[in-house]
Amino acid sequence: MEKKNEILSFLISSLKSRQVKLTSTRKAILEVLAENNEEMDVDQIYFLAHKKSPNIGMATVYRNINMLHKLGMLAKKLKSGSDKAAFSLTGKLKKDVPEEIKDKRKNKISASNYSQTADGEILRIQGQLNEALNDLNKIKIEKELALENVINDFSKLDKILETHNFEKSNLIQILLDVQGQYNWLPKHTLLYIGKKMEVPLPNIYGIASFYKFFNLEPRGKHSILVCTGTACHVRGSVNLLQRIVNVLGVNPGDTTKDLRFTLDTVNCLGCCAIGPVMMVDDKYYSDPSQADLNKILKNYN
Ligand code: FES
Repeated sequence: MEKKNEILSFLISSLKSRQVKLTSTRKAILEVLAENNEEMDVDQIYFLAHKKSPNIGMATVYRNINMLHKLGMLAKKLKSGSDKAAFSLTGKLKKDVPEEIKDKRKNKISASNYSQTADGEILRIQGQLNEALNDLNKIKIEKELALENVINDFSKLDKILETHNFEKSNLIQILLDVQGQYNWLPKHTLLYIGKKMEVPLPNIYGIASFYKFFNLEPRGKHSILVCTGTACHVRGSVNLLQRIVNVLGVNPGDTTKDLRFTLDTVNCLGCCAIGPVMMVDDKYYSDPSQADLNKILKNYN
């Protein structure tokens, strides 16, 4: 009996090692044959296996006996004096297990892996969707803020227009007041003024572009003028201008992104003796070094 148990343990562990699932039916068949130590036909095996595992049916037992035979675990021969096949344990297992017999759990693991991959892909796509939604929300918030600003602008413009009684003859002064608010003339302000005053937009643009003191492009809060006149040029205004360009990151004629500074060049600032010279708003600075520039510009918020 001990030997049969050893054979049984060996067969069971062999099944597992070769990816053949040890179902309750297979286990019952092997146990029945191990315990009875004799050749048995399918009916006999089924009778005893059914006692061990009441849920198994004849067809299942028959199919599994054939499978164990294919694996080389059961020897098969005709019962003496009968046309029935009889089976007994061989105590061994074929080396090569047919693929169709192998435990399908391997495939299940693959399916599980596939499922994990799919889950990962879904998470990735969800992440991308969330990012896109965040971006859309940002755009929405930006647009709402922009709209809010425009609505606020309209009330400011209404006040300016009311101050000038909507008089067409006061158009230049109205534009100056608008520029006083923004440092330049944004397009939507010109559209609004034109509509309210019943003045065609081209006429307003005509005035705004005729006078040099009107700015149709955004201007920085502070103006930086660098003299490139002859006296300053011979004293090194080219180098000064380059230092300022390096600090601001914009070229002459441009405005910094934060709308703090607009850089321009002029031909003389009227203080040639201290050149090369630059002017920030209404203050003069004589040939500031890069370090000086950083300190000076920090004071202009
Ligand atoms: S040439 Fe530069 S201030 Fe006159």
